[in-house]
Amino acid sequence: MNQILFPMNSNFRIPGQVALITGGNVGIGRITAIELAKKGFQVVIAGRSLERTQPVLDHIKSLAVDEPAIFLPLDLASLASVRECARLFIELHLPLHLLVNNAGVAGMRGLTKDGFEMTFGVNHLGHFLLTQLLLDKLKASGPSRVVTVSSRAHKRAPGIDWDALCRPTSTWTGIREYSVSKLANLLFSLELAKRVQGTSVSTYSLHPGVVDTEIWRAVPHWARPLLRLRGFLTPEEGALTTLHCAMHAPQQESGLYYADSQPTLPAPLGQNSELAAKLWERSEKWTSNR
Ligand SMILES: NC(=O)c1ccc[n+]([C@@H]2O[C@H](COP(=O)([O-])OP(=O)(O)OC[C@H]3O[C@@H](n4cnc5c(N)ncnc54)[C@H](OP(=O)(O)O)[C@@H]3O)[C@@H](O)[C@H]2O)c1
Repeated sequence: MNQILFPMNSNFRIPGQVALITGGNVGIGRITAIELAKKGFQVVIAGRSLERTQPVLDHIKSLAVDEPAIFLPLDLASLASVRECARLFIELHLPLHLLVNNAGVAGMRGLTKDGFEMTFGVNHLGHFLLTQLLLDKLKASGPSRVVTVSSRAHKRAPGIDWDALCRPTSTWTGIREYSVSKLANLLFSLELAKRVQGTSVSTYSLHPGVVDTEIWRAVPHWARPLLRLRGFLTPEEGALTTLHCAMHAPQQESGLYYADSQPTLPAPLGQNSELAAKLWERSEKWTSNR
C-alpha cells in the first residue's frame, strides 16, 4: 500500500466523532473509512455485504481504535433498504458528525427496485433519501458535514432528461447516465447547502481524481482505455479530497465543489441553482411515496 499523504500532521486526531460512510468495503470508500478511524472517528460502514466489508472492519479493529467499526446493510438500489439503514443507524443512538455519500456505480444498466434508471437511482436518489432521513440527526450533532463524492464526469452531462431517469439505462456504456448521476450529486450538495443554511451542517461535493478502483468493472472492456487516458491515481491518493472535505475544509465553504482538495468551479450546469432546486423537488416526490 502506498504511503498515505494525508494529513500533513500525522498527530491530527478528532476523537469522539461518528462518521457514516456508504460503500466503505473497497476503493476510495475503504481508504476513507480506515483513515477516518485512524483520526479517531467511530466509523459506521453501510454497504451491500457484511462478508465483503469484514476485512475492513478487521483492519480497523487492528488499529486499536477506541470504538470498533460497525456494519449496516444498505442497498442504494432499493429505497426500502435505504429507509431500513437509516432506521438501524438511528437505533444505534449515536450522534452523526459526518455522512460520506461515497458509494457509486458506473456502467451498470437497468432499473432500481423502485423503477429508476440504475446509475441515477444508486448514485443520487438512494443518497438523497439517506441524507434526508439522517438530517435531523446531523443537525442535532452539529457541527456536522455531508460529503458527497461526485466526479469531473458531471461536465459531460448534457442536462437532465427527467423522463430518462424513470426508464432503464439507454446507452451502451452507461457513461452518459453516470455523468448525469454525478451532476445530480453536485446539484444535491449545492441545494442541500442552501436548505441547511443557518444550521451547523455544512456540505461538500468533490471529484476524487481518476482512481484505479472497481468502479470500472461494469464498463465494457473496449471502452476502458478512454477512461484511462488521464492515468489512474491509487485509492489512497483518491481518498485525499474526501478526507479534506470531511475534516479540514472550512465550514463557511458549504455547498462548494472540490478537486485536489481545493474549491473548484463546476461546469455551468453544476452551478445552476434552478436545476438544483428542481432536482431536489423531483427527488423529494420520487422518494416520498416509496
Ligand atoms: N474511481 C474513479 O476514478 C472515480 C472518479 C470519480 C468519481 N468516483 C466516485 O467515487 C465513489 C467511490 O467509487 P470507487 O471508485 O471507490 O468505486 P468502487 O471501488 O467500485 O466502490 C464503489 C462502492 O459502492 C458500493 N456500491 C455499489 N452499488 C451499491 C449499492 N447498490 N448499494 C450500496 N453500495 C453500493 C460498492 O459496494 P459493492 O462492493 O457491494 O459493489 C463499493 O463499496 C463513487 O461515487 C464514484 O462515482 C470515482
